[in-house]
Amino acid sequence: MEQQVKRIGVLTSGGDAPGMNAAIRAVVRSAVGRGIGCVGIRRGWNGLIGSDFVPMDTSSVSHIIEKGGTLLYTARSEEFRTIAGQDKALATCKLLGLDAIVAIGGDGTFRGALDLSRRAAETGYHLQVAGIPATIDNDIGCSHYTIGFDTACNTAIECIDKLRDTMQSHERCSVVEVMGRHAGYLALSVGISVGATAVLIPERKLEFERDIVEKIRRARLAGTTHYMVVVAEGAGNAMEISHQIHEAVGIDPRVTVLGHIQRGGSPSAKDRETASQMGYRAVRAIAENFGNCVIATQEGRLAVLNMEDALKMTKEFGMERYQILEALTNNWGGI
Ligand code: F6P
Repeated sequence: MEQQVKRIGVLTSGGDAPGMNAAIRAVVRSAVGRGIGCVGIRRGWNGLIGSDFVPMDTSSVSHIIEKGGTLLYTARSEEFRTIAGQDKALATCKLLGLDAIVAIGGDGTFRGALDLSRRAAETGYHLQVAGIPATIDNDIGCSHYTIGFDTACNTAIECIDKLRDTMQSHERCSVVEVMGRHAGYLALSVGISVGATAVLIPERKLEFERDIVEKIRRARLAGTTHYMVVVAEGAGNAMEISHQIHEAVGIDPRVTVLGHIQRGGSPSAKDRETASQMGYRAVRAIAENFGNCVIATQEGRLAVLNMEDALKMTKEFGMERYQILEALTNNWGGI
């Protein structure tokens, strides 16, 4: 159905990610540049349910491109999963006269957007939705890259480089837990980048002897006197792993859980630029009445995908990168 888009809503939902603000800025400015009005929905889908919104213009997004977090706040909404919640959200869309919503977040956010658009259609209301992938986990099936991942990697690397100084001085072993409940993208990228002795990821079943003990022994034989074990949140409990290392190898590791610090901080150049491109492209797709879509990256380029198709896509983890880590670790002991 062709229709002139007059007003769009923009929201962030799920875990925040550095670069979300840059994406909001791009959406608002691209919309205003096309004569489309823009409303910021606060606190994710909860903001639509509870009519929590703020009108936005070009100046309301000044000086946010460099800021982490999200000026619109974010939340995970249980109520929005229900038909009653979606109906309340639709009532707000109608009240505001929204023709489209740009939802910035993970695939749970996109599923919510699609549900809302379908529910709207059932009631005879045309609402386009566009998804912009943003999560530090980089775990969205349709997109090779998600906003925030690069910054989170850099944050973790900076922290681990500092840890390495003290581990090296005391000739210790460090067990560092990074985020990633279901995905090891962050852990593996960080592990390769810091020259970790071992990296544990949810995508690879842990064999303690092979994946940790053997690696520490080889590193020791190669002359290394300190060891860095990077554990993805979903791959094991860092404290337990530390005890097991103590029992198996006789060293006394120190555990560091990097936690939410990885979600904060000023976005990197890559995250600012990707967010800007995706925000711009989302508004263009909406203005051209593309229909429900996700703005993804594929083979290093932006792609506008049908949202329904996008949500069925999966991406390969790329286990060869684990092999790269091993090739550089086993022979030389890492670090
Ligand atoms: O999805 C991003 C993420 O940071 C995951 O890596 C992590 O497991 C989860 O969010 C933590 O969620 P919360 O902030 O709700 O504790």
